[in-house]
Amino acid sequence: MTIGVLTSGGDAPGMNAAIRAVVRAGLCQGWRVLGIERGYAGLLSGDVREMTSKGVSEVIGRGGTILYTARSEELMTLGGQARAAANCRDMGLDALVVIGGDGSFRGACSLADLGIPVIGIPGTIDLDIACTDYTIGFDTAVNTAMEAIDKIRDTSSSHERCSIVEVMGRSAGYIALYCGISTGAEDILLPENWKDDVQGLIHSVLEGRKSGKKHNLIINAEGVGHSAELAEKIEAATGVESRATILGYLQRGGSPTCRDRIMATRMGVHAVKLIAAGQTGRVVAYKNDDIVDFEIHEALAMQKHIGESWLTMLPLLKR
Ligand code: F6P
Repeated sequence: MTIGVLTSGGDAPGMNAAIRAVVRAGLCQGWRVLGIERGYAGLLSGDVREMTSKGVSEVIGRGGTILYTARSEELMTLGGQARAAANCRDMGLDALVVIGGDGSFRGACSLADLGIPVIGIPGTIDLDIACTDYTIGFDTAVNTAMEAIDKIRDTSSSHERCSIVEVMGRSAGYIALYCGISTGAEDILLPENWKDDVQGLIHSVLEGRKSGKKHNLIINAEGVGHSAELAEKIEAATGVESRATILGYLQRGGSPTCRDRIMATRMGVHAVKLIAAGQTGRVVAYKNDDIVDFEIHEALAMQKHIGESWLTMLPLLKR
């Protein structure tokens, strides 16, 4: 047996721990494990290397991905998908493990439709894959962002300012939600429910000041955006000095937390177990404190929303 493993889309801390688990558990089965570089781009260009046990030693604590990653436009075309599937066959791959987010799984799904045995492992800091309660990288990302926001709060407090901090999450607000709650932010703007209510924010800053608050903290998700503009509007309307900070890519880097290393390891081993059992075309997931798996088409058709209990909790923490 020969299996391939690749990382695709935005990198996430813990991807290396997942690669390591797939490689080590695969080698334990007596299989050959090939690492495909730069995600689907490497699958198309044939950038492949032999993975060894020693080659993945000391990577469990390293951020980023040793296999590199990319977003491949070509894999979105039918021609690219056919070429990628042909390359899998030429390489003699009996299965392909894809570590990545939703977009990467859509690529994997198209390969599955062309007869390639695939397994998806959810790796994205965004926590936005519907079939799973956890995605590799989220815990590290929110802890990194939380620490940065705590520091911004210090200076915001010294200067009695209003700080708007923008965190990642183009279409999902989980990072903003966790960072906002864990740093005690007054307002959290989520792409899921933002209604362009700038007046509401202005009111909130003024009310905060009236109740004796010396500074204000607003966590904004990337999907809402316009942080600098919001800061300008708040300052103009309230007279409170306001500053915007975009945390950006620092949220994707850094040594993975214990949770990410453990989750990545469990998911990687589960992927190998599935292949060994002849079960492919599946996505590994975390549900009810267990590692489970779903058929890939079903997994992609699932929807995920921030639960009501989260949203109803937020106003209760404001005053
Ligand atoms: O990893 C997910 C994510 O961080 C999103 O929140 C963000 O929109 C996107 O990646 C940006 O990544 P890139 O600029 O690498 O495409």
